[in-house]
Amino acid sequence: MDEREAMAHALSLAWRGWGRVHPNPLVGAVVLADGLVVGEGWHAEFGGRHAEPGALERAGERARGATLVVTLEPCDHQGKQPPCTEAILRAGVRRVVAGLADPNPAASGGAARLGSLGLQVELGVAREAVATQNARFLHGFRNQSRPFVALKLATSLDGRIADSSGHSRWISGEPARDYVHWLRAGFAAIGVGGRTARLDDPRLTVRGPVTPRVTPRRVIFDAGADIDSRLTLVRTAGEAATTVVTASDAPSDRVERLLSAGVSVVRAGTLEEGLRMLRGEGIDSLLVEGGGRLAGALLGLGLVDRYYWVQSPLWLGDRGVPATAGLPSDPIARAERWAVVERRALGEDTLLVADRR
Ligand SMILES: NC(=O)c1ccc[n+]([C@@H]2O[C@H](COP(=O)([O-])OP(=O)(O)OC[C@H]3O[C@@H](n4cnc5c(N)ncnc54)[C@H](OP(=O)(O)O)[C@@H]3O)[C@@H](O)[C@H]2O)c1
Repeated sequence: MDEREAMAHALSLAWRGWGRVHPNPLVGAVVLADGLVVGEGWHAEFGGRHAEPGALERAGERARGATLVVTLEPCDHQGKQPPCTEAILRAGVRRVVAGLADPNPAASGGAARLGSLGLQVELGVAREAVATQNARFLHGFRNQSRPFVALKLATSLDGRIADSSGHSRWISGEPARDYVHWLRAGFAAIGVGGRTARLDDPRLTVRGPVTPRVTPRRVIFDAGADIDSRLTLVRTAGEAATTVVTASDAPSDRVERLLSAGVSVVRAGTLEEGLRMLRGEGIDSLLVEGGGRLAGALLGLGLVDRYYWVQSPLWLGDRGVPATAGLPSDPIARAERWAVVERRALGEDTLLVADRR
């Protein structure tokens, strides 16, 4: 295995911390000796051991003179865990290959320190892939005014998210739905529009292989606070927190009814303000799962950072519900072009993940 392959392997190890390590980054590490992997590590749990000491411990004496390949720059500070630079120095590693420079000013500087002590250090290998994997973590350093917002939609081949009577169960197949449960575990909140809450009556809980360390909050965007107390999201507010984001002038009696059912209410003048207020309540990432009007409004305002598009091989026709209603049309020359960061099959469906540039 060469260093690039080892970095790809470290990236795949890092996913094992999905849903468990946040607010820390996902990190994976591999110790490479004579082209062989002699140690693997990953950050598995918030507050727990970092990836590097785990990989080095597994490698033992074989780490001496070897190369450590790690997705994020090794930390150089005492936090809940000791500095990784110390473990690296103790292990006698000769070379360190790291992906992304640590954006956290409190923890960064590891690469420079190791370099100054005579180790060979290369920083920036597969930087893009590491940044894509840690988009939620990085967003927090760039933008404190709203959560990292991802949109996930399952559409037909002709871009519809429901049939003409508003039914969307099920456009996608089981593998895609399993994927969404895995995906939800990595977000602080899962959001839907009011009409989706009323028509689909979803649970928006995580029922996949990863149990998130912090249960995602369920958020309904409904300007008029027209959310019936019999809806599942309201009835189960005691098991997983539910918030309704309403317009500032939403009818007070409806708001009162929600509050007495244990649902929290965020009153906001605009969607942007709603997101800002959610951020103020500690929601640093939000996965919006439709419907089309909420998706169109968020996209139109430039408030979506990532799109998880599940495309299913069926046709729903002109009267089906459009995936992004109300999105303004730009001429092709000025249209936003996003960066594709992942593409793969989920059973009969196709997943495409694209990031706003
Ligand atoms: N295939 C899929 O992935 C998928 C996913 C979800 C839903 N669906 C389907 O999509 C359909 C519903 O989609 P839809 O487009 O009709 O409705 P929707 O997007 O679910 O709901 C629109 C809601 O968003 C709120 N909203 C829009 N802009 C807002 C703003 N600026 N501030 C606050 N709230 C705002 C609206 O509140 P007000 O009306 O009070 O303004 C309205 O309640 C259903 O048939 C559902 O089955 C499919």
